[in-house]
Amino acid sequence: MNNTLAGKVALVTGASSGIGEATALALSAEGALVAVGARRADRLDALVHKAAGEMLALELDVTDQESVRAAVAKTVERFGALDILVNNAGVMLAGPIGGADTTEWTRMVETNLLGSMYTVHAALPHLLERKGAVVQVSSTSGRVASAASGVYAATKFGITAFSEALRQEVTAQGVRVVVVEPGFVATELADHITDPTMRAAAQQMATSMRTLQPEDIANAVVYAVTQPQHVAVNEILIRPTDQTR
Ligand SMILES: NC(=O)c1ccc[n+]([C@@H]2O[C@H](COP(=O)([O-])OP(=O)(O)OC[C@H]3O[C@@H](n4cnc5c(N)ncnc54)[C@H](OP(=O)(O)O)[C@@H]3O)[C@@H](O)[C@H]2O)c1
Repeated sequence: MNNTLAGKVALVTGASSGIGEATALALSAEGALVAVGARRADRLDALVHKAAGEMLALELDVTDQESVRAAVAKTVERFGALDILVNNAGVMLAGPIGGADTTEWTRMVETNLLGSMYTVHAALPHLLERKGAVVQVSSTSGRVASAASGVYAATKFGITAFSEALRQEVTAQGVRVVVVEPGFVATELADHITDPTMRAAAQQMATSMRTLQPEDIANAVVYAVTQPQHVAVNEILIRPTDQTR
């Protein structure tokens, strides 16, 4: 265990799998006290046992403002502060616009965009107090939209817009805003796509290249949040070397 983040408190949303889980473990390995939130509490309980140091499991649904406020409050109650928010919870229900099941659009907007906004809103007073950092997990889809990812891309473009406004509002007060834009990472994200053709296409893409691993993104987050206070790493784009688009 390192101690670059000793005495720091982090909250990671969407920590029950994939990038969030790896990031929580990486922050813990750097000495941070980490609260981990997601809906699947059983997976969070298992994660706590793998942590290098103290970790707090919080059942959290980011689409529910009360749940978000409670998770932030419990983090501060347990660890006394909040220095780093990793806003990572997300869903990617890919599919074409025409004929889409619009309840999937609602889920994506409520989770990826509104959910991450609610979490910033609840965490901000604490981050301002500690001159902390917000890590916003966006995507390459937050830079380039493509067919069959219109709504997912819209949520990620939205995260970028919100993050830049947030940066301008809080950077002079010492809070750093980091947007992380991963390319294809091997996680369960695409397994939740309901359209069988889209799901198969994502799985095919995964086998066609050396994908990123969740730990690759976790390392980037650790890099950003361990810089000296005067250095703000505002944006990190990471693709697999083999990913063309
Ligand atoms: N994998 C990629 O290629 C890739 C690329 C670019 C960006 N990203 C982004 O990276 C982030 C993490 O995705 P991942 O790839 O690690 O996929 P993942 O393994 O499916 O992780 C998604 C996480 O979000 C959580 N989540 C979903 N809905 C939630 C809700 N309403 N409240 C709280 N937590 C919720 C899930 O936990 P529960 O289901 O337990 O709630 C899970 O922990 C997402 O924002 C995704 O858009 C991924």
